[in-house]
Amino acid sequence: PQADGGNDKKEQRLIVVSNRLPVTISKDANGEYHFKMSSGGLVSALSGCKKTMSFTWIGWPGKDIPVADRDHVNKRLLAEYNCYPVYLSDELADRHYNGFSNSILWPLFHYHPGEMNFDAAHWLAYREANMRFAEVVSNFCQSGDMIWVQDYHLMLLPMLLRSMISGESAQGEMVRKELGRVKEGVDDEVVKDVLGMQPGVAQSGELDDEGVEILDDVDEGEVLHMKDKPAGAASRRPHFPRGLSTFQKQEMVAKEKGKDGIRIGFFLHTPFPSSEIYRVLPVRREILLGVLQCDLIGFHTYDYARHFLSSCTRILGLQTQPNGIEFEGRYAQVGTYPIGIEPMQFVEGLQKEKVQSRLKSLETRFQGCKVIIGVDRLDYIKGIPQKLHALEVFLTQHPEWIGKVVLVQLAIPSRQDVEEYQNLRACVNELVGRINGRFGTVEFMPIHYLHKSVPFEELTAMYALADACLVTSTRDGMNLVAYEYISSQSKRHGSMVLSEFAGAAQSLNGSILINPWDVQSTADAIHQALEMGPEQRKSNWQKLFNYVSKYTAEAWGTTFVNELTRLSGLPPAGPAG
Ligand code: ADP
Ligand code: F6P
Repeated sequence: PQADGGNDKKEQRLIVVSNRLPVTISKDANGEYHFKMSSGGLVSALSGCKKTMSFTWIGWPGKDIPVADRDHVNKRLLAEYNCYPVYLSDELADRHYNGFSNSILWPLFHYHPGEMNFDAAHWLAYREANMRFAEVVSNFCQSGDMIWVQDYHLMLLPMLLRSMISGESAQGEMVRKELGRVKEGVDDEVVKDVLGMQPGVAQSGELDDEGVEILDDVDEGEVLHMKDKPAGAASRRPHFPRGLSTFQKQEMVAKEKGKDGIRIGFFLHTPFPSSEIYRVLPVRREILLGVLQCDLIGFHTYDYARHFLSSCTRILGLQTQPNGIEFEGRYAQVGTYPIGIEPMQFVEGLQKEKVQSRLKSLETRFQGCKVIIGVDRLDYIKGIPQKLHALEVFLTQHPEWIGKVVLVQLAIPSRQDVEEYQNLRACVNELVGRINGRFGTVEFMPIHYLHKSVPFEELTAMYALADACLVTSTRDGMNLVAYEYISSQSKRHGSMVLSEFAGAAQSLNGSILINPWDVQSTADAIHQALEMGPEQRKSNWQKLFNYVSKYTAEAWGTTFVNELTRLSGLPPAGPAG
């Protein structure tokens, strides 16, 4: 309301936390550092929030930044990009990112339990990396801040943060105990390598036998993190008036530290799987408890939110509401916030001289031939082998199309240190070779396969050139490639063939939906897309473009943050104050 006046109001601060910082840092031969802002969906999404609030991004700055250079790097990151780094040793970063995040959570969340290799040392590293993030964020944040945690790399962070900010969370203590227990299964060398600690020696910041963090000069039972205490002083847990909820106790302690009224949001950019799959995870309880200390938990689709709630019921025995869960006297609201892109970047990009001239030369090169485009990270969730098999079936059943259609498949190299990705690379290379060998001639190759990243101008020209786009993900949180293709098709009105297992399928009405496991129906969909008349294509595209233009990345970011601002942390019908 206007009565607020507003001038003397403290500016609302938003702290975004993600595994990677959105800045690529490199050092040249002269030892000079170069910084380049990346242009991902999240960066665009936050542009709306930046207009109305002060904004800082906290994340890992990447490998190879020597300790001696960090002061300089930190200053530039903060001054030029509003970014704040969390440094991890290479070993820890590797086990956290390649290990737990991408060899355990990623396959499981995408319904590939067979690819999941649970390893206690990876779990230990995941916990430790989340702890390092929590230290940096909790030191940085102050009263009234909003902290927005991104994605599956940081699912313990909300719980650790709450515990560090307010020092009072029964559940936090319990989780710390459980987290500590896993360490018993890990050999000493790993503890030393990953954590840089001497095994067997209790160290400050570590967990004792009871799972309680060991603090220099602190009484038993104390759960405050050492960084939160004045040096050398032993602080005791305060005596709370009787009858206070955990939420109220947390706020009381946080107030003393000047860190009360902090709201924490979490958004998962991947699917959240059915509880039948999720419960395979050995640390299924800890991960759920890790995010339950949030005020707002967001997913791309209604199904993902529903799976999360039913996992909380089945695994933790909690009662849930359709829009959230009461937990420790706090209400974690759970909602659906489908992300988008900034379509005007593609619409306007297409007008650029460079893109237009590239488009013309591609049109000449592929004259008389229809083009299907595929753009994916080289990831087993993207269903690239299924896509290639479907093309093979299509060409076998419709030989009249041989020489008249090509698939241009761009595959961006991804997570190349993870074994499953190396296996996939070999499998795709072999399939492309076989299919090209079968249908190709000296003049014609049905598949043009590029295993590399291509610049934005080239990508936009390829999107605009293509008569159809083929997304065959076997599971995919959202899939923004579909949005990018639609945004680049104002002239051609190409067909969008989209897997029903991508989150985007819930929103992109006007696509030809396919089940990528059903090779025959995918081959039929290729045929349908290529033969569709111009009027049908135009009406499909119009519906799709209307949606993509309305539900942009900026709209997504603003909606989530506005909702988080509105929340108090209390259950909807809970006691006041
Ligand atoms: P994911 O988040 O799993 O990578 P999305 O489809 O949501 O999947 O986003 C992929 C992003 O990566 C898109 O912005 C797309 O343009 C980009 N991309 C994918 N492949 C390539 C490539 N070969 N070259 C350049 N960019 C690519
Ligand atoms: O979709 C989940 C996600 O982590 C995105 O946030 C990210 O852009 C994409 O996968 C690629 O992941 P990575 O950061 O591992 O290259």
